[in-house]
Amino acid sequence: MERETIAVLDFGSQYTQLIARKIRELKVFSIILPYNTTVSELKRYNLKGIILSGGPASVYIQGAPSGDVRIFDLDIPILGICYGTQWIIHILNGKVKRAQKQEYGSAELIIMDFLNLFWGITGTMEVWMSYGDIIEELPEGFEIIGITANSPYAAIRNPERQIYCLQFHPEVTRTPLGKEIIANFLFDRICGCSPNWLIESFIDEKIEEIRSKVGTSRAICGLSGSVDSSTAAVLAHYAIGKNLTCIFIDNGLLRKREKEMIIRAFKDSLKIELVYVDAKDEFLKVLSGITDPKEKRKRIEHKLIEVFEREARKVDGVEFLIQGTLYPDIIENERVSRYSAKIKVYHNGDWFPNTMNFKPIEPFKELFNDEVREIALQLGLPDEIVYRQSFPSSGLAIRIIGEVNEKNLSILKEADSIIQDEIEKNGLYRDIWQSFAVMLPGKSVGVTGDERIYGNVIAIRAVVSTDGMTTEWAELPYEILGKMATRIVNEVPSINRVVYDITPKPPGTIEWE
Ligand code: XMP
Repeated sequence: MERETIAVLDFGSQYTQLIARKIRELKVFSIILPYNTTVSELKRYNLKGIILSGGPASVYIQGAPSGDVRIFDLDIPILGICYGTQWIIHILNGKVKRAQKQEYGSAELIIMDFLNLFWGITGTMEVWMSYGDIIEELPEGFEIIGITANSPYAAIRNPERQIYCLQFHPEVTRTPLGKEIIANFLFDRICGCSPNWLIESFIDEKIEEIRSKVGTSRAICGLSGSVDSSTAAVLAHYAIGKNLTCIFIDNGLLRKREKEMIIRAFKDSLKIELVYVDAKDEFLKVLSGITDPKEKRKRIEHKLIEVFEREARKVDGVEFLIQGTLYPDIIENERVSRYSAKIKVYHNGDWFPNTMNFKPIEPFKELFNDEVREIALQLGLPDEIVYRQSFPSSGLAIRIIGEVNEKNLSILKEADSIIQDEIEKNGLYRDIWQSFAVMLPGKSVGVTGDERIYGNVIAIRAVVSTDGMTTEWAELPYEILGKMATRIVNEVPSINRVVYDITPKPPGTIEWE
């Protein structure tokens, strides 16, 4: 029997992947499809339910995204969320209008029926509202099952046609019991799915997919040492073995011992074909005299493109580029789909240029960081890669406030490795999102022996976070901070002052540049 599937039709919400993720956590297979996927395409899956995501548009404007109305005749339960809800109401001849007061924030949902969607939840629950439009009139056959102070139709259903509609987002953590609602939709109460989908099946499927796509041709993979590109490389290695070539460009901006760690893991342990490119001098040359952070990033990116192209050309018959892109990278970088709001930051540390138009293979583009970590563990990657902290593609260059040169790099690498060493020794590595040293410009006075000397200043940065989007400074014990500072001033020549950065993000950022 083909596996049970929940289709999530994407109307462009930035939360669509969170819906899919919650479903995966509940061990049911889900697939995200464009909002206008036709019923005949949907019939290719063993569909047990359909979820219509939210989205930024309004149903009553011209050209608003609209799905295939025949989904209502499939006799499969449907759950609408925000825009998905409004589209259902609009199509089934109810009325949706612009809300006089738009609502973005928490609200208390008063539950009026506990039979199916709200089974097991008692009384009221906190929900996350985010809408500009509201339902004015329900279509025939619909009844109210939940209200909030501002939304008389916050949760409605048509029991006969098995349609459930929510005006709030059950998929976000700000709806603390949202997962229970999704579980009620998936299992016995509504869709009747069985919780039997596992990450192992995902791995098997992706291996099969890569194998059949690449066949006897060749794929390359740019390795940065990050968990994402490393896991993508190992997955591809299991799929196509010798037909994979990995390229590791050493830009000289890596942390101490990273190069050795990557070579040891890939070449020596996993026996993956790895091309090591020592491009340190080339990168240092383009960075010479540059202090502007944007300019540093730009130059590093251009150099990376140049070196990667040059090296890729040396590999015969490459047709595919394996990339470890994750869903948060996509959402941070570009539009998720035609209708999603743009949230731009910059590419993540795992980015490798596809300027030669290789066919991209991105096995993790729907996954989140911790899901890839789980895959990495299953595939047997070493802990030092699985739990490696995020690291910017511009590397240590953006942790030297000022000019990047060999001398500054070696000072920073030493100080940075002391911080890492103390974090690891004290068993804190996995509790911390990122921890590192930053080299500050200018000098500060210090006394060595009887002499007053001017030395460099190092800032320690250590933050805790669940997603890197918002962070708090890590409350490292004083003894550990003290130990780091003492070691840095004693062991790293030219450093005579150490400070600790206690800025949260926002308004600060993790990196200093
Ligand atoms: P911020 O400093 O904006 O960083 O709080 C968020 C995350 O992004 C990483 N970062 C970069 N990654 N190229 C990258 O690939 C960059 O130029 C860059 N700058 C910051 C940062 O380390 C953190 O994980």
